[in-house]
Amino acid sequence: DRLPGLLRAMPKAELHIHIEGSLEPELIFALAQRNGLTLPYASVEALRSAYAFTNLQSFLDIYYAGASVLLHEQDFYDMARAYLGRAARDNVLHAELFFDPQTHTARGVAMETVINGLHRACQDARTELGISATLILCFLRHLSEESAFETLEQAMPLLDKIVGVGLDSSELGHPPEKFARVFARCRELGLHLVAHAGEEGPPAYIWSALDVLKVERIDHGVQAVHDAALMQRLAQDRIALTVCPLSNQKLCVFPDLADHNLGKLLDAGLAATVNSDDPAYFGGYINENFTQVFAATGLTAKHAYQLAFNSFEASFASNADKRVWE
Ligand code: ADE
Ligand code: ZN
Repeated sequence: DRLPGLLRAMPKAELHIHIEGSLEPELIFALAQRNGLTLPYASVEALRSAYAFTNLQSFLDIYYAGASVLLHEQDFYDMARAYLGRAARDNVLHAELFFDPQTHTARGVAMETVINGLHRACQDARTELGISATLILCFLRHLSEESAFETLEQAMPLLDKIVGVGLDSSELGHPPEKFARVFARCRELGLHLVAHAGEEGPPAYIWSALDVLKVERIDHGVQAVHDAALMQRLAQDRIALTVCPLSNQKLCVFPDLADHNLGKLLDAGLAATVNSDDPAYFGGYINENFTQVFAATGLTAKHAYQLAFNSFEASFASNADKRVWE
């Protein structure tokens, strides 16, 4: 079977990776030691064995705890540089990194510490690995609109270091329209817009992400299959869905990877892509997501080509970056 080799070698863009979700247990322990922090886990193995999730919230609780070891600019740099090295080995040519500043600013870490560390890693990856990498600031939807506006205010002096904004964290009970005014402001500022919608939440959240927030891509979006009119809209407007198969499996969105609807989305003409979401927590980087979902659901080389094509088409890469792929 030549398909796994093709999937791994295929050039691709990664559009849905939370950089805090790339923090491996080994790096969490190393940063804790460097920063003089004590973790509530005795060892790397003990921490890793706590990674058994039943839904999105059960993951988020442990994910925010893991991110608490990040204090200094160098910590953010080391995390992002490690991910970009790993992505380059998976033949990722372009990556758009989500980050959650409120997780850090709430602990007293300055916005510029976060953004400057991540941005420097993106710049070094460009020269050292030939990979283009950009940043998307995500607002935490379980927090208030006021907190999101305050976060945007803190990022204003650093806006040239981010390409867009997103919306993540606990989906149920926090519909996109809660952030209508913040997203309108970001749109005026010329930022690209994306939002998590239809991961655990209903198709209605995908509709409001599109029509109220006016996002250009939907992160996850797998619940769209329950709404035929929405499927048509997504296909017609070529709204990309950044699908994360191993995440969906580990957070019990699908009982089994074999039940994943990626093939259904592609066959309905939607611009789906494959991504890793939080690879340190869900058991695999982007190539592992490709090989496992293809093996479990019987997708073909034609689907592989579509997924790679979609990832480049849906990216927010600059024309200069695009010239490198062509
Ligand atoms: N933050 C990190 N990973 C996430 C996910 N899969 N959904 C929502 N928020 C997240
Ligand atoms: Zn995500």
